[in-house]
Amino acid sequence: MNKYSQLVQQLKKRIEKGELTPGSRLPSIRLLSQQYQLSKNTVIRALTELENLKLLQAKPRQGFFVCAPQKQIPALQPKQVTLGATAFSVLGAANKPGLLALGSAYPDSRWPTVSWYYQQQAKTARRWARANHQRRSHYSTPPGDPSLRKSLADHLNATALSCNSEEIVITQGAQEALSLCLRSVAEVGDTIAVESPCYYGTLQCIEALGLNVLELPSDPVQGTNLDALESALNQWPIKAVLTNPSFNNPLGFNLDLATRKRLINIANRWNIAIIEDDVFAELSYNQQRSTPIKALDTEQRVLHCGSFSKTVDVDIRLGWVLPGRYYEKVNYYKYVTSIACPALTQQAISELLIGRRYRRHLIQVSRSYQERADMLAEDVHRYWPDKTLFIQPKGGILQWFNLPEQINSDQLFKQALKAGIGISPGNLFCADNRFNHHIRLCYAHYTQSEEQVTAIAKLGEMMEKL
Ligand SMILES: Cc1ncc(COP(=O)(O)O)c(C=O)c1O
Repeated sequence: MNKYSQLVQQLKKRIEKGELTPGSRLPSIRLLSQQYQLSKNTVIRALTELENLKLLQAKPRQGFFVCAPQKQIPALQPKQVTLGATAFSVLGAANKPGLLALGSAYPDSRWPTVSWYYQQQAKTARRWARANHQRRSHYSTPPGDPSLRKSLADHLNATALSCNSEEIVITQGAQEALSLCLRSVAEVGDTIAVESPCYYGTLQCIEALGLNVLELPSDPVQGTNLDALESALNQWPIKAVLTNPSFNNPLGFNLDLATRKRLINIANRWNIAIIEDDVFAELSYNQQRSTPIKALDTEQRVLHCGSFSKTVDVDIRLGWVLPGRYYEKVNYYKYVTSIACPALTQQAISELLIGRRYRRHLIQVSRSYQERADMLAEDVHRYWPDKTLFIQPKGGILQWFNLPEQINSDQLFKQALKAGIGISPGNLFCADNRFNHHIRLCYAHYTQSEEQVTAIAKLGEMMEKL
């Protein structure tokens, strides 16, 4: 290696190690040539090379300054998902009756409002029984019960975004909403960009529809890497971005307004759809719901999905979509998939949305979930390895853990299952078996009961031995 290349390598190493910090000025050319015993010309050549590499910046009459590190943008490729059947059996095993299910994302349903809802449903059913099933002479059809769409539109207008009832399609939970949206924006073989890690139900749906996935690196603090999205859009014909922007499953991040705006700007520039899965948005611990991406959309390209599964009860199986310009397709696919959602539940949930009952319920449950997140964190700090990393979310019901690298979460999952504890291993949340030392837990039920604390302690013991 010649002298000038040697100097380039030496200075590069010092910058990478942080010995020469971003923004700092390098010694003068004269001093460097004395220090490294090189001619001034050799030093100048090396500094120019480092400038070309964007590691240094030359400022006239001031000298050479160390640049801020360039963000690494990973090269991404669309992939097929082949997760479905495995994930289905893993989830089935972790949800067996009798197991302490800490893995699955279901809310607590022991709240007064949830009982009130079921009483309301029973009352509606009794009224219908008295009327001797003569309510109508034809099937209900999409887009859904008019009274529910009206009360839902009122609720969304008061809390999230402006819309009217004609823009809403009622679905069988958010899972059906996601499936209808994906079918409406893409065809077999098309590519959908998703956060990575990503809710496995999304990946299973993408697989079942014969679509490919492009996984965008994401983390609990920054959220989705939109530089990576832009770089991928330059390379691949991506049809849509599917995002879970608020209290993300599994990472827990909540995208800030600037990132939401950047995402819609990218979608506008590249003429792609955004499927916004906003099922946790109403469970914000500071009672402030983040602005939905849909509220920033001036081109009707966002399909906004919500559900009562996380806020009331998973067994209600009701959700919705505001599909924007894809309304006709979503509405038609809903019809050919399942005709309509059960009219009884639609009417009962509509009653729940009227007045302030539902909003008071959201405040109550969000406060409790925040306390439960703290309780889980306390026990994890007490019983799990010190090197366990996690960032507590500011809403929702899910916690993502980065365990010490030697812990294989699949093995931990199997051992935990034998001990009667259900957890979600990290590799369920991607298309290619990564996140092998990560797990996701749900703390919605975590009240530090003796059984729960013992389970967390037992998981800690297993981790020490793995
Ligand atoms: C991010 C996300 N989207 C959608 C769903 C499906 O919700 P639903 O029960 O409303 O179908 C879930 C369920 O866990 C989820 O976590």
